[in-house]
Parts: sequence; C-alpha cells; structure tokens
Amino acid sequence: MKEHGVCQSNFVDTGSFLFLNNIFIILFLLLCKSHFVSALTVVFVNSKSLSSIKIEDTSVDDLSLKILVANNSDTLRLLKMSSCPHVSSDGILCVADHCQGLRELALNYYILSDELLLALSSETHVNLEHLRIDAVSENPGQIEFHSIKKQSWDALIKHSPGVDVVMYFFLYEEEFEAFFKEETPVTHLYFGRSVSKAILGRIGLNCPRLIELVVCANGLQTLDTELICIAEHCKNLTALGLSECEVSCSAFIEFVRLCGKRLTQLSVMEDVLIPDDEYSLDKVHTEVAKHLGRIWFPDVLPVW
Ligand SMILES: *[C@@H]1O[C@H](CO)[C@@H](O)[C@H](O)[C@H]1NC(C)=O
Ligand SMILES: *[C@@H]1O[C@H](CO)[C@@H](O)[C@H](O)[C@H]1NC(C)=O
Repeated sequence: MKEHGVCQSNFVDTGSFLFLNNIFIILFLLLCKSHFVSALTVVFVNSKSLSSIKIEDTSVDDLSLKILVANNSDTLRLLKMSSCPHVSSDGILCVADHCQGLRELALNYYILSDELLLALSSETHVNLEHLRIDAVSENPGQIEFHSIKKQSWDALIKHSPGVDVVMYFFLYEEEFEAFFKEETPVTHLYFGRSVSKAILGRIGLNCPRLIELVVCANGLQTLDTELICIAEHCKNLTALGLSECEVSCSAFIEFVRLCGKRLTQLSVMEDVLIPDDEYSLDKVHTEVAKHLGRIWFPDVLPVW
C-alpha cells in the first residue's frame, strides 16, 4: 500500500505538467512500473503540442505511442525511446508516418526497419538531423539481428544528407553478422563490448561517412590492417578512441599519418600500442605529434 502511495504522489506531480503545453517534458521513471504506462497515457491524452519527449528505459507501449501521435503529430520534433521493450516496429512506424516534423529519434535496433527509414525519408517529412540506434543484447544468441537494405539507407541520406547516424553496439562477437555487409551511412560508432577484426575490416570498406569511432575490447589480434583501411576510406574521420585492443606502433603511426591534422580527438590507452622493430613506445608520441601538429600522449590508467 505504501508503494501505491508513492506512485500516487508522483502521479500527481506529473499531473501538474499536463496543462503546460508546448514545453520540453522529460519523463523519468519516477513512477512504479505498474502505473507507468497508465500515467504516461494520461499525460499523452491530456497533452497537445509536445515537442520533445524522452521516455528511455520505460514500459511505454504501442497504444500509448498512438495516443501521443494522435495529439502531438504536428509539434513533435524529438523522441528518445531507447530501451522501451514494449514498443514494436509498428508502433514506431506509426510515429514516423504521422509526425512529419520529427528531427531527432533515438531507438533500439530491433525496431529499426526498412519501412521506418523510408517513412522518415518521405517527401513530406522534414529532414532528419539525428538518428541514434542502440544494438544491445543481454545474452549471446538471444536475438537474431536483421539487416537493413542499402536502398533504405540510401533513401534516408538522399532525403537528409546532413543526418548524424549514431550507433552503439553492446553485442557479442557472433551477433554482428548482419551489420556493415553493405554501405552503411553511420557517422558515429561505439563498440562497448567485443567487436571482431572482420567487422572492423567491413567498417573500413562500407562506412564512408564515419566521423567518430570508439573501439573497446577487441580481443588479442592486432588491428593494423583494419585501422589503415579505415584511415584510407573514411575521409571524414576526426575522432578515434581505442582501449582493450592491440595495434602495432608502426601501424598506428601510419594511421595517424594518413588522417593527419583532421584527427582532432585521439584517445588511445597506452597498453593498446605494441612496440615493434621500427618504433618503441617512447618514440610513438613524438611521431604522432609530428603528424597531428600538436603534443600527444597515449592515455594511462591511473594507478590507485
Ligand atoms: C488526445 O487524443 C485522445 C485519443 O485520440 C483524445 O481522447 C483526447 O481528447 C486528445 N486530447 C487532446 C488534448 O486533444
Ligand atoms: C564529409 O564531410 C563533408 C563536409 O561536412 C561533406 O560534405 C561530405 O559529404 C562528407 N563525406 C561523406 C562521404 O560523407
């Protein structure tokens, strides 16, 4: 009963927002899970002209999204709904179809579809500015990841040439099969868990729009050829982060030489760099600094 009381009072707090239309509403999950969807639905039923909605990590479902769309289709510009397991690809498609002013969208990969990308690229839809996609798996092999057709990505970029496509990956190595087989217009790529050498090789070949790449935990094979391929093909790359993987000092210097001064952010853990016949760890930073045109040192884990 006490828990119920907590829900009620939060519910009332949220209620005071209801009549403040046209403002930036952020809904945190202050409410107990069991009441969240109904509370949210009340917000949506009573709202008009909402422009930004962040409902990440909540139990919002297709029905409450439909109500949201019905009332706010003209004004919605930003929708962040990563980690909403009760929303299906049909639910998000309904948003894209009706909210033609939507410029920023964050969602999970499993509800991304060809139809969604095409809906966002329809003639009547405004240009998309920011698309964030999280590909997450809790247990290896639990989800089978589908691929997105090249034509759908092409349509998106034709309609919104300046869009940032940001992808976060928290997958197991064997789950990457569907990704980067064809040209993918991703601009920002973050690998939070292991990613294989083979996939990094595909990224060099198929991600010409790449601006930022962060790789954590690749395992213990050097990424020399993959990084050089990325430097050669991703002409807009300006930021690289590496940790828990291995690159020979020579290959790393070649990578920096190829990218040159456009590399404005270069964050590499010291233990990533493997000394070889040509360069010791001591020599790396002077060589790198020469190509970057500024002082540079690898990052060192603080020892406390
Ligand atoms: C929002 O939509 C619901 C369902 O279509 C409707 O019942 C409600 O009156 C609408 N609210 C506003 C403020 O227009
Ligand atoms: C690289 O960036 C420039 C300037 O922002 C842009 O015009 C160009 O299309 C980009 N190249 C690719 C392959 O995306």
